[in-house]
Amino acid sequence: MLRLQLLLVNLGAKFVGVKLGILGFGTVGTGTVQLLQDREGRHPLLQEIEIYRVGVRSLDQPRAVKLPEGVLTTDLEAIVNDPAVDIVVEVMGGLEPARSLILKAISNGKHVVTANKAVIARFGAEIFTNANQAGVYVMLEAAVGGGIPVIQPLKQSLSVNRIQAVTGIINGTTNYILTRMQTEGSNFNDVLADAQRLGYAEADPTADVDGLDAGDKIAILASLAFGGRIHLEDVYCEGIRQVSKTDIAYAEKLGFVIKLLAIAKRQTKDNSKLSVRVHPTLVPKAHPLASVNGVYNAILVEGEPIGQVMFFGPGAGAGATASAVSSDILNLVAILKTTTTNPNPLLSCGHDDYCQIAPMAELVTRFYARFLTKDQPSVIGNLGTCFGKHGVSLESVVQTGVHGELAEIVVVTHDVREGDFRLALAEISTLEAIESIPSLLRVL
Ligand code: HSE
Repeated sequence: MLRLQLLLVNLGAKFVGVKLGILGFGTVGTGTVQLLQDREGRHPLLQEIEIYRVGVRSLDQPRAVKLPEGVLTTDLEAIVNDPAVDIVVEVMGGLEPARSLILKAISNGKHVVTANKAVIARFGAEIFTNANQAGVYVMLEAAVGGGIPVIQPLKQSLSVNRIQAVTGIINGTTNYILTRMQTEGSNFNDVLADAQRLGYAEADPTADVDGLDAGDKIAILASLAFGGRIHLEDVYCEGIRQVSKTDIAYAEKLGFVIKLLAIAKRQTKDNSKLSVRVHPTLVPKAHPLASVNGVYNAILVEGEPIGQVMFFGPGAGAGATASAVSSDILNLVAILKTTTTNPNPLLSCGHDDYCQIAPMAELVTRFYARFLTKDQPSVIGNLGTCFGKHGVSLESVVQTGVHGELAEIVVVTHDVREGDFRLALAEISTLEAIESIPSLLRVL
């Protein structure tokens, strides 16, 4: 009887999700809502999230995502003041009213997730002082490097290291411009105009091309890496307007590429001073940051004892930024949903089921194989026939050298099923002309 009553109580219980109040429904806001609504194959804790309110400037604008009646509102103040809201997600950008709304949310005891590097770089001291007093979290993974996880690693995974330097390509627009100037030998102004036409650069490109956006971001990274606040005015910022195609060509001849680097580094021997700066820099071609091209971002962290760690990925875009925003949300949900009977604030592995792993025979990949064969007619023809019989298509066949009496033949296949490739090899190894197959490697 008691059991039945409990079951009825459970069935009748209203779903109590963690309620989000999202401020802004532009590119990042829309991407975040889309991600949170599309739960299949993602973390099960996403089911605990309710998109409760989304604050917008106008209700009349057409939207890419449909939301239930009453979720959209133009009253952003009401969202941060609503006692039902657990987490405020600020993805509206700009300094005001974003800063005031974040502070209001904090004073109302709400956790905050923000993608706003400009607000954090300028008002981080005020925001975190208030958050610490109120006992709430302000999460900012999306503020630097778009979808690249770098804030949490600096805060947690690398926190026991003595960080010596953080060096980043953390502005996609300038990296895109410099990459094109380098590959095409074009002028800054021509590439900028084209980047604006293609939507890779803003109509007003100042924040990007003058290094100010990267300045905000390196101030945030420096603060986390070196455990102190940074006055934004102490960050030296020099942009890429004066970088010419002539400099890029000379740099290339000397073995360098020019990148807009954001650098935070211990400057003095006694570690008492930092150097925090953004400027175009000649980077040796063999350096890990030299091959980060186009709109991609990367951050190289150097510390003791870990050595070098590099984070690389998409530094902007709806999906990438939504990934970072949503991971912050999920971390907060894990904390809010932690109870004595369900203690899992660190999102530990809670799954019981096993994943199904495909057998290697089903793998589809390219192969490289090297054959030693008799040097006689029809060997390559017979190899080709055997491969063809088993559905293995060849991308290239080269006969490179001779080993004593033997010919050396190297083939690279197109994508093939490993099982089919193995059958073909088994048959090939029985051919009279084949002496051995000394190498067999998969090709990415
Ligand atoms: N404007 C930034 C960039 C994207 O070009 O990297 C958002 O941080």
